[in-house]
Amino acid sequence: MDKYIINGGNRLYGEIDIQSAKNSVLPILAATVLTDERVTLENVPQITDVRNMLRILECLGCKTVLSGNDVQIDSSCAVSYEIPSTLAHELRSSVFLLGSVISRFHRAKIAYPGGCDIGLRPIDLHLKGLKRLGVRIDEHNGYITCECQRLKGNEIMLDCPSVGATENIMLAAVLAEGRTVIKNAAREPEIEDLQNFLNSVGANISGAGSGTIVIDGVSALGGGSYRPIPDRIEAGTYLIAAAMCGGRVTLNGANGEMLSSLLHKLYENGCKIAQKDDKITIQADSRPRSVKSVETQPYPGFPTDLQAQMTALCALSAGSSVITENLFETRFKFVPELRKMGADITVADRNAFVSGVPALRGATVVAQDLRGGAALVLAALAADGRSEILNISHIDRGYSAMEYKLRAVSADIVRVTV
Ligand code: EPZ
Repeated sequence: MDKYIINGGNRLYGEIDIQSAKNSVLPILAATVLTDERVTLENVPQITDVRNMLRILECLGCKTVLSGNDVQIDSSCAVSYEIPSTLAHELRSSVFLLGSVISRFHRAKIAYPGGCDIGLRPIDLHLKGLKRLGVRIDEHNGYITCECQRLKGNEIMLDCPSVGATENIMLAAVLAEGRTVIKNAAREPEIEDLQNFLNSVGANISGAGSGTIVIDGVSALGGGSYRPIPDRIEAGTYLIAAAMCGGRVTLNGANGEMLSSLLHKLYENGCKIAQKDDKITIQADSRPRSVKSVETQPYPGFPTDLQAQMTALCALSAGSSVITENLFETRFKFVPELRKMGADITVADRNAFVSGVPALRGATVVAQDLRGGAALVLAALAADGRSEILNISHIDRGYSAMEYKLRAVSADIVRVTV
């Protein structure tokens, strides 16, 4: 079990390169099962979720070759339609494989997916969408078994703009007979990235990024190389780190357009932000002013994946804030850990009531999930004194080389294996 040891108080100066988006790479890896031709993904983050997704592909019979940060997938030898339960429990995005495995084998078997413990995380919308395409689904003993003779296009209205359900239906529809229309689809940039990848290998999809996506089934897909979009959540995490610690940090390979809801909050905090091409520079000279309220919403609203990090920022801002988590039921598990560092936060149902304190103090705290763990790192960087962050395997799921990137901008952080 690894931990971080952080001596807080350093202002941050320098540059950070942003990885490709975890939440793009994962569905795109699932999509590679759809083609017999080789696919190369560039600049893939070296994180646990990607390694686990590659292991799942290998269990299906796909061949994967990592060279540097590029990964080549050859699914021509894929033979199995069963996703192993041990791996399915490791990561939520194993569920995306349902759509692509059914598309390829006309059958699929998967244990209920795992992932961060941030809420109930149902998959009813995934299954309803697949049934609309003609899939017969049996749920028994913790397994989901799917069968279909031929996937046929249909109109699907999602009860809520679920990212995963949108992606799963796209993957099932891309080789189906006829047209599929997804209404009330998720609008996240990662959905558009999946569309762009699929179209780059021969699919016929339009509308991703809007609420309505149209997929006209094609007979087969090809291969090629593809570079996923930058990780807006990693970028947002490091912007918030700079806002909390003070200093001047430039992110390379970041897209400000995908972060506008966060940038507007950072302007409210009093940060100066400049954008040029694929760089974002943030400058924070004084204690952040408070942001009155933050409400997580589906894209383009404030992202739930930056809620914990923003709560940590509010914890040392001058004034009070109310943070409302509208997407997941238990995404405040990091708050008791922040309180050990002196934060003044009260949680009631979906709201966190924050009274900013002039300074946080170092403490030993335990990461409970991916983004909550990242929030604890940010708090420790800004706190007075020494902190230890335990259970950082949660953080390793979504951030590549976090300690190296932070040390490069003057943070005092080391990883220790215990
Ligand atoms: C994706 O999860 C992301 N994960 C999450 O990022 C992200 O927080 C989430 O989208 C929202 O943006 C990946 O892309 C791998 P949803 P997903 O389906 O697809 C309800 C991170 O930290 N819902 O959009 O699981 C659900 O309960 C992770 O990188 C149903 O009711 O999220 C939730 O309230 C955490 N039925 C809401 O939709 C369903 O069948 C949003 O969930 C599916 C979802």
